[in-house]
Amino acid sequence: MPDVARGGHLFTLDPGRDYPVLERADGVHVWDTAGNRYLDAVAGLGVVNIGYGRREVADAIAAQAAKMPFNAGNIFSNEPAIELAAVIADMAPGDLNSVHFTSGGSEAVEVALKMARQYHVERGQPERDQVIGRWTSYHGATLGGLSVGGAVGRRAKYLPMLLDMPHIPPVYCYRCPWGLTYPACGVTCGDELEREILRVGPERVAAFIAEPIVASVGGAIRPQPEYFPKIREICDRYGVLLIIDEVITGFGRTGTDFGIQHYGVVPDLMVMGKGISSGYAPLAAVAVRDHVRSAFVDAKVAFEHIFTYGGSPVAAAAGLAVLDIYRREGLAEHAAELAPAFASNLAGLREFPIVGDVRTIGFMAGIEFVADRATREPYAAGRKVAALVREAGLRNGIVTYPGTGMAGGSAGDIISLYPPLTFTLDDIADMGERLRATFTEVSATLGG
Ligand SMILES: Cc1ncc(COP(=O)(O)O)c(C=O)c1O
Repeated sequence: MPDVARGGHLFTLDPGRDYPVLERADGVHVWDTAGNRYLDAVAGLGVVNIGYGRREVADAIAAQAAKMPFNAGNIFSNEPAIELAAVIADMAPGDLNSVHFTSGGSEAVEVALKMARQYHVERGQPERDQVIGRWTSYHGATLGGLSVGGAVGRRAKYLPMLLDMPHIPPVYCYRCPWGLTYPACGVTCGDELEREILRVGPERVAAFIAEPIVASVGGAIRPQPEYFPKIREICDRYGVLLIIDEVITGFGRTGTDFGIQHYGVVPDLMVMGKGISSGYAPLAAVAVRDHVRSAFVDAKVAFEHIFTYGGSPVAAAAGLAVLDIYRREGLAEHAAELAPAFASNLAGLREFPIVGDVRTIGFMAGIEFVADRATREPYAAGRKVAALVREAGLRNGIVTYPGTGMAGGSAGDIISLYPPLTFTLDDIADMGERLRATFTEVSATLGG
């Protein structure tokens, strides 16, 4: 009885919505089966950093699939995974020298949480079982990731099934939870971690997890420069592992290989995904520092964990080909170079009264909508402003990423932008024009 005309038997994320069906992609554009072309200003989902249509990645995948598609991770290793781990270790800051692969970012977050826990168990501190997260942050859709994440809307219906993990307030200067302004605030949001560790009991805390720059549920929320150095110092003081989630921010998105490099801090575990294979194959990873690996080697124990597809040679072959392009073409440097043009183009959208804040770093942006710019009052959740923008964007030939919940509960709309890192100045100009047409349409709808 499937009744959605074009979806047929497919259970899409919103089974009642009639989705445009995408057929092909090239460069920074995607086409649907009706022949409509869209400028993909979100690179799929912050994923396709190297752009679409890279033949050499497809060839590498096909060659590896023909040679050897799979190996069991508890019995064998494989050459593409070993090589890719070396490439990532070379790119990652400090002594993040060992890499464990998974198929997606949520799986990688689960690995990081379990590895952090087992690290303490093997070091004789089994009472450390709490992972502190932050509100207004996202660490994946699995129950563990949702538990440490702080995406209120995405957690709500599953709350009774989640782990009861502690959270601290977000770093969110536009709506500072303490009503303070930088620098007079003294970056008290960072001190909040110490307050929470002391509240929970330092002997109970295994790790703290954070996105370096909040992406999908915050729209490019960037902490002040003192924040992560302060966080690193607090973690060290209490023997708490620092997990940095680079699933969106990694591989050039913010103009550096990894977002945390803006802060000169080395985490103990670093989660990555998306750009690592640019969507050509499902691939994500956790890089760990030498002392984390040593906890397992010294205790002569295995990591008590396995995902069937972890370390897939086909996915690793894709990752190798993708990162070869990424490094050869200097895509992080390209994003950094064009970041001012990207930022100033989007800043021009402030001329629309519905735009409250425009935040950017590298090729990552968040545009927050408000009903009243002076008071920063959001639109009522029922007006579904972010969804209106998404739909109007599609009509105007541009893909944007909608989000809500910036102002508590489900109110406070944003759209995020994560263009392919291959975006040119012409693409930036095209993006600006299409967003202008989109915002004109949405402003008329909201005003009416
Ligand atoms: C910061 C962050 N962590 C984890 C995830 C989950 O990754 P995946 O959707 O690949 O499971 C995402 C996805 O958007 C993310 O942005």
